Amino acid sequence: MTQDNRWDNVTVIDHPLVQHKLTILRDAETGAKEFRELVKELAMLMAYEATRNFQLAETTVKTPITETTSFVLAGKKVAVIPILRAGLGMVDGILELIPAAKVGHVGLYRDPETLKPVEYYCKLPEDIGERDVLIVDPMLATGGSAAAAVQFLRDKGAREINLLVLIAAPEGIDEINACCDDVEIYTCAIDSHLNDHAYIVPGLGDAGDRLFGTK
Ligand code: PRP
Ligand code: URA
Repeated sequence: MTQDNRWDNVTVIDHPLVQHKLTILRDAETGAKEFRELVKELAMLMAYEATRNFQLAETTVKTPITETTSFVLAGKKVAVIPILRAGLGMVDGILELIPAAKVGHVGLYRDPETLKPVEYYCKLPEDIGERDVLIVDPMLATGGSAAAAVQFLRDKGAREINLLVLIAAPEGIDEINACCDDVEIYTCAIDSHLNDHAYIVPGLGDAGDRLFGTK
């Protein structure tokens, strides 16, 4: 399946397994347990794609048959930064692929009146400037939360920043690119638009509430 992607810095992960899982995730009938499992699996599959350009170093390995040259990751250090709360659902899937990654937390919620992000918590790895950063959040709607997280991380010294979102709205992508166009965005889908409450259409509803069963 191809999607309208007019942005150079946006990768839409159109792998059939990803698209299949995303459809179940969107379904209003999918319960919290399955929703959590799907978010974890999708995050893992997204990390596979987002790490495609990691550098390799040559090494030698002795197989049961003979010694041969082969490749290992060239010491790349990664930080996974979930935007609280819904981003938490994506962390474990990524850590299964990249167990040496450090995890930082940025607490932001979207004020329901102003729709602007409000920061309430932040704890980052001390060496954030030396790490490839993967900011994770299921939803990129207005882009306010992700843009605030990117700017915040930049202020703390982060350089290489990637944003992994399950679903992106065009408005959110434009917002990120307006403030920080050197961020690579990975998503499973670019949806149509935002509704009057700034929810993504068709989207999947409120990711945090569906993950944690709070509504
Ligand atoms: C959701 C979502 C994003 C944000 C996206 O979080 O997880 O962080 O909204 O919206 P935006 O692009 O318009 O900023 P929410 O604020 O609902 O908080 P929660 O994760 O605690 O539920
Ligand atoms: N946050 C969500 O959880 N869902 C949306 O559609 C928009 C913001």
